[in-house]
This record gives sequence, structure tokens and C-alpha cells, in this order.
Amino acid sequence: QTMATSSSDRRLHHVESGSGRMQRLNAVVLGESIASEEDELVFPSEGFSEQALVSSHVQMYKRSIEDPAGFWSEIASEFYWKTKWGEEVFTENLDVRKGKITIEWFKGATTNVCYNALDRNIEAGNGGKIAIQWEGNEPGHDAQLTYSELLEKVCQLSNYLKDIGIRKGDAVVIYMPMLMELPIAMLACARIGAVHSVVFAGFSTESLAQRIVDCKPKAVITCNAVRRGTKVIQLKDIVDYALVESAKNGVLVGACLTYENPSAMKREETKWQDGRDIWWQDVVPKYSTTCEVEWMDAEDPLFLLYTSGSTGKPKGVLHTIGGYMIYTATTFKYAFDYKSSDIYWCTADCGWITGHSYVTYGPLLNGATVVVFEGAPTYPDYGRCWDIVDKFKVTILYTAPTLVRSLMRSGDEYVTRYSRKSLRILGSVGEPINPSAWRWLFNVVGDSRCPISDTWWQTETGGFLITPLPGAWPQKPGSATFPFFGVQPAIVDEKGNELEGECSGYLCIKNSWPGAFRTLYGDHERYETTYFKPFTGYYFSGDGCRRDKDGYYWLTGRVDDVMNVSGHRIGTAEVESALVSHPQCAEAAVVGVEHEVKGQGIYAFVTLVDGVSYSQELRKSLVLAVRHQIGAFAAPDRIHWAPGLPKTRSGKIMRRILRKIASRQLDELGDTSTLADPSVVDQLIALSDF
Ligand code: WT7
Repeated sequence: QTMATSSSDRRLHHVESGSGRMQRLNAVVLGESIASEEDELVFPSEGFSEQALVSSHVQMYKRSIEDPAGFWSEIASEFYWKTKWGEEVFTENLDVRKGKITIEWFKGATTNVCYNALDRNIEAGNGGKIAIQWEGNEPGHDAQLTYSELLEKVCQLSNYLKDIGIRKGDAVVIYMPMLMELPIAMLACARIGAVHSVVFAGFSTESLAQRIVDCKPKAVITCNAVRRGTKVIQLKDIVDYALVESAKNGVLVGACLTYENPSAMKREETKWQDGRDIWWQDVVPKYSTTCEVEWMDAEDPLFLLYTSGSTGKPKGVLHTIGGYMIYTATTFKYAFDYKSSDIYWCTADCGWITGHSYVTYGPLLNGATVVVFEGAPTYPDYGRCWDIVDKFKVTILYTAPTLVRSLMRSGDEYVTRYSRKSLRILGSVGEPINPSAWRWLFNVVGDSRCPISDTWWQTETGGFLITPLPGAWPQKPGSATFPFFGVQPAIVDEKGNELEGECSGYLCIKNSWPGAFRTLYGDHERYETTYFKPFTGYYFSGDGCRRDKDGYYWLTGRVDDVMNVSGHRIGTAEVESALVSHPQCAEAAVVGVEHEVKGQGIYAFVTLVDGVSYSQELRKSLVLAVRHQIGAFAAPDRIHWAPGLPKTRSGKIMRRILRKIASRQLDELGDTSTLADPSVVDQLIALSDF
């Protein structure tokens, strides 16, 4: 409570000092020296705040903390509920000492997310508005669907799924590229109460099989192939192998609905299993374009999305219907200052949480026009993003620091060649955005005119937890600024003591919010152990964080064994287990190292089986093993031969030392005397290629 008040007071101060100021204020000079990054304030451009959605954020935030039930039920009332919730808007127990961890919002109320995203917006008169503006891999290849057309397509697929026996509560795995059919498939599941689990189409057959075995879907929805840039990826082949693999593990999937993507591969060339495989285009269009909605309890599951943790086994993050719906819609609206005239583009893939919350659900619940892009952002050249922005007059662009850094390196001419004058808001997600990338995005892409919403959140949180609200307060390049409505962060020390004021430590959240995940599928114990046991009474994010003297939050990256590579979350243990699956690898230890474009690169120390000698070919085949086990995005950047690994006497690998060797900070190795065999450090240094 005290913290909430003090941070609101600080905001008030900033808004007052911020209003009416000129565009930019560069590094503030404090005394003799130039103050650090923390002192650089970027004020909203002139006129922005006057039109911004949020002007009374201090009062709104205060209310959301003092009366969360009232705050969220008022917002929820703007949506359609078949039956309303009772007295208790939410219940929560985040304290393991008090028993099972539970979070429930709007329990007992019934609704449907698909109905709220489509039917409700159509009934409000927006049936003719474009819902999805699709852009294909090749420039000039595009298509669009209005809200009414989207609803018809969704209903046809819903009817088909019902016809093949899919019922409320059944799981459906979706393994598709960014075609319109991907959000259509998600919404069709939501309409009939099926639980979708989208697997990013960059995951390998092994990873797909692992997820299928875990959630046992009644059907898989896929597409035969996709073109990304100049590459063709045969998705159906990957699914075929995964289904064979899952069958070996006792999970038989009866139906594989396959969308024919003729721009990538003809149907005649696609491998086929009669009885199991069905062409989408042959069956789905035959069904009725209307479909009754399945009314669901707010706490029924909406989807499962697998994400990486600190062990090799991915976690099935489970989100439920009511709270997730309200939270994604509300965060989208406020963090992007959404107006009905906006054209919104999020460059994320629906295979990740960003694509769930901020390509599909959040924007469509607001009746927005969403750009869905199939291709690669650098194909045919580095100007593609700005070409798309100009083509569709995109007003809100939500992207990732890794893409910003890679475009930044390719030169400003690719950007300035295009007008970009439609842009009014920029967004960033996936990892901390370094101040120089922030400034480039702000100055070059946004012509110093567009606020940047650097949104901090996670697969687990469903939606933004710490984010700027455009125009509401000044920004600091590289800071996610302040908590969203209803969110009470706590920065704690190792012992779990909450720190006050200016501090750094582990980022936790003290309360529940509607979009929080409710469990890990089939493993509530792991849910409690990973997120609620490290610091009693709090949700632990796994991130480090600093709060500066003005109350701004600065995320500093993961503090667990999870890496962040190009905004993709990858567990070190997953890569290690992929490496040791290679017959010539005896042991592996993986660490993340700083990487100019990817944020973090993957650095692997590998001990070979006795008698095997080092070679470039072996390096390649080890990398290939990881591509096969996880996917290309998890391929190690470096393999460092290790005759032995630095271990304590109890056999624990000392990653701290490996991280220093990997980042070439040999003078910072620290105390190596506790190692079982300190000489391995010298051997590793001798074998490094720097
Ligand atoms: C982890 C969550 C949330 C959608 C994309 C990734 C890092 C994410 C930010 C940001 C600093 C960020 C955190 C977090 N992260 N956004 N704006 N500033 N760090 O979702 O795969 O669940 O990964 O990504 O480390 O814990 P995810």
C-alpha cells in the first residue's frame, strides 16, 4: 500500500512537470557530470497527451489497488456475459503457507471470448470493418477479412471441429505459420470451448511431439508448407514425424486438418495418410457459416502454451477465459492508447504468447484492424517493415528489440526511404530494450514523435504488467516505467525481504491480476514450486529488476537458468539435453552470453565421449542435434570443447565461471579454489579460440 501510494505520487510529479514541455529533453546535467541513463526523461510530443486515452492514471491506478474488485468488474461489464459473476469478483491465495495456490476471477460467470471478439463487435455495427489485414511473404500478395467474414470462417471451422467430435475441454494442437487460418483456428476452438495449444512452427518435430504427448489433443491443425523469405519449410512433414513419435508414446491423434498453402507447396507433393489427414479446403467451406456459442465458465481453460523453464521439460502454461479476456483487452487498449481508427501491427508470431494476447485476443476484443504478416521482416530487403507500415497506414507498431537492432545495423536509408507518417505509437517486447536501440526506434523510425511502450510481461502473466501508458508520463529510454492498473510489484532481496525506494533485486508481484496463469498443465506442484515458493507470499517472475530514484522500473534480465535469445525463451537445460542426446557428447553446460543482435547468444561447453577427437564436423553435427531436438532458433552460436567442466566437490557445475570464460572476462573468474579440480579452468582457457 505505501509503495503504491509513493509511486503514484511520483507519477503525479512527472505529469505535472511534464505537461506542456517541448518534445525531448536529453541527458540532464547534474552538477558537473552528465547524469546517467536513469536521468534522461523523454516527454510526450506536443499535443499527444491532450488526445491520450489516459489522463487520470494516478486516480485510476490508486482505485485499481484500493478496490480491485470494483475496478475490474466495471471494466468487465463492458463485455458480454451470458450470466454474471456473484458477490466475489476474485479470490486468491498466493501464500504457500496458507495452502494451495489459487487464483480465480469472475468464477461462476459465463461468457465466450470468441463471441466477445467477433459477434459483439459485429452487433455494435462493425461487421464491415477489416479485422485481419494479411500480408504474404511476397510483396503484393495480400488479403483481408472483415469482422463478419472472419466470424463466418471461424464458424465453419467450429462446425467442422464439432462434427469430428471435438467437445468442450478437448485439446487441439495448432502448428501453423502466420496465415489468417491461424487466428481463425484459435478463435474456432474458443468458440466451442476446445482448449488450443499453439506450437510455434519453428519448433522441431521432437518438440512438437513432446507437446502432443503432454496435452493429448483430439486433432492437430497444420498447413502443408510455408515460405519465409527465400526458404520453404515443409510443416506437414514435421507434423507427420511428430505424430509417429507421439503414437510410440501412446498418444494417437485421430485427425490432422491440413491447410493447403499453394504459394509454398502443391497438394500433390504433400505426403498423406488417408483416414487421418484432411485438406482444410475440402471440408471446412462446406459447413454452415453460423455456429452456436458454447457458454463457458470464466475459469474454464482457454489455452495451453508451452514455455521453457529451468529443467528440460517445457511447462504447459494454462490460461482461463474470463480474466484473460478482460486483461488482454484492457492492457491493449491503454498501453497502445487504442482508438478505433488505428491500424495495428504486431510483428510477433501467434506461436508465442505475444501473438496470443496481442495479435489475436487483445486487439480483436477491441474491434481493431490487425495486420498479420506471413513473411520475414527482412525479405526482400531491410525496408520490408516500413513498406508494410506505409502500405496499410499502420498507426501502432509493436515489435521486438532484436529486430530493432538488426534493422538499425542495416542503415537508416532503409527506413527514411519510406514515409512512416501514419505511425503514432511504437511498442517493444521480449527483452530489455537497450537505450541505443530505444533511441534509434524513437528518433529514426518514429521521427521523435511516437511514444514507445516498452511492455514487460511473460507467458505466465497473460498481459502487460509493467508498461508505459502513452502520453501519461515521461519515458526513460530502456525503462518499462511503471506497473499497469491493478499490479503491485515488489523488489525483494535473496531472503525475500521487500526493498523500498531506490533498489535492485528480484522482481515479484504481490497480488493477482485477471490475466495471471492459473496452473501448469498437469503439474500444479511445479507451479507452486517455481513461482510461489522462492519468495513466500509473492509471485516470482524470474527476472532481476532495479527501481530508480524516480520510481521507474528497469528490467535487468533473467536470474534463473533461462536464456533470452532474440526474444525467445530457451532453457539452458533444454539445450544441454539436446546436446547430450548426440552419441559423441558426454556432458554439456550451456550459458547465455551477450550478443549484439540477439540480445543473448547460446554458448555451449561440450565434453566428448572418451577417444573422440575435436573437429569442425563434430561441431556442426552437435548444432544439428539441437536444431532437431528443439528448433533452429535454439542452435548454439558457439561450441567450446571442454575436457572437463568446473564442478564443486558435490558435483554441481559452476556456471558463474563458465559465464566469465564465455564472455572473455578472465580477470573476473573469482574464487576457483572450491572446485573439485581447479585445473579444468586452465584447460578451458587453453582451448578457447580467442
Ligand atoms: C521474459 C518472458 C512477454 C512476451 C514475450 C516473451 C523478458 C519480456 C520484456 C521487456 C525486459 C522483457 C523477461 C521475461 N521480457 N519483455 N519489455 N523488458 N524484459 O515472453 O517467452 O514468456 O519471456 O522475457 O525476462 O521474464 P516469454
